[in-house]
Amino acid sequence: MFEIVDKKVLAPNIKWIRVKAPLVVENARAGQFIVLRLHERGERIPLTLFKWHKEDGTIELVFQEVGKTTYELGSYEPGDKIMDIVGPLGKPTHIENYGTAVVVSGGVGAPIGYAVTRALKEAGNHVVSIIGFRNRQYVILEDEFKKVSDELLITTDDGSYVRKGFTTDVLKEYLENGGRADYVFTVGPVIMMKLIAKITKEYGIKTDASLNPIMVDGTGMCGACRVTVGGEIKFACVDGPDFDAHQVDFDELLMRLTEYKREEREALDRYVKGVH
Ligand SMILES: Cc1cc2nc3c(=O)[nH]c(=O)nc-3n(C[C@H](O)[C@H](O)[C@H](O)COP(=O)(O)OP(=O)(O)OC[C@H]3O[C@@H](n4cnc5c(N)ncnc54)[C@H](O)[C@@H]3O)c2cc1C
Ligand code: FES
Repeated sequence: MFEIVDKKVLAPNIKWIRVKAPLVVENARAGQFIVLRLHERGERIPLTLFKWHKEDGTIELVFQEVGKTTYELGSYEPGDKIMDIVGPLGKPTHIENYGTAVVVSGGVGAPIGYAVTRALKEAGNHVVSIIGFRNRQYVILEDEFKKVSDELLITTDDGSYVRKGFTTDVLKEYLENGGRADYVFTVGPVIMMKLIAKITKEYGIKTDASLNPIMVDGTGMCGACRVTVGGEIKFACVDGPDFDAHQVDFDELLMRLTEYKREEREALDRYVKGVH
């Protein structure tokens, strides 16, 4: 059992928790994730490691309530326990000193973007962070990003905070104005990652994307998380979640993510009505 020791609401339906998981902490690296199961009847869901602490063996997770399991997790309070946490899983993000690294994160991709930004900064890169949110209410982790970025560019879809536009607009503008980028890392909605990859391909900038397909075991045993990269089938949980963004079939990923829409809606309806 894994005890939740702290909890905060960061934005509507976006929650932060700190959980005791000493074995996960021991080997955790930026870009990796855990798979959790809340209780005996729960499903397994993947969440990325936002931060981890050797001193007290805790991990921090940031998640958006989008369906039954994440809503249920959102109802847990400090003192409550999660039945299973497996991790760290996935390959860590490849970190080196590229020179100038640009990290583009959208929405709830921000926690992953943050962990990678911090690692790139520690490796000696000049780091430019571009973070985008739907509107002012959903802006999260601004102070965290500020601490690990040399430049921080924030944007909101509706212009209610800092500037109006998508992260793609900000990256385009940055590059058009002669901004340097030796490496780009992107994480967020699939459509955003697809468009970021299109821009950086034109400029010939090496780009990695952190993919988020549906996962079950998270250890390479089932292929639920398969994606096509450079014409080859890869399992995101063991071969990724990071892949060369210029080689990823984003349209296929988008299609596969919607495969269980009906079942997901039914499970959430039952949960809201108290029928589990
Ligand atoms: C490696 C990895 C790391 C992730 N890290 C985080 C994180 O740090 N924070 C966070 O909030 N979410 C993260 N996700 C997404 C998270 O796993 C899903 O939101 C969660 O599984 C939804 O479960 P649910 O039962 O609440 O919703 P469901 O009822 O299963 O789904 C509700 C909606 O969410 C979409 N969805 C379902 N599974 C995923 C998925 N794997 N990725 C994206 N959308 C999905 C569905 O298409 C549907 O529209 C990550 C996913 C992966 C693969
Ligand atoms: S989730 Fe089963 S192989 Fe990746």
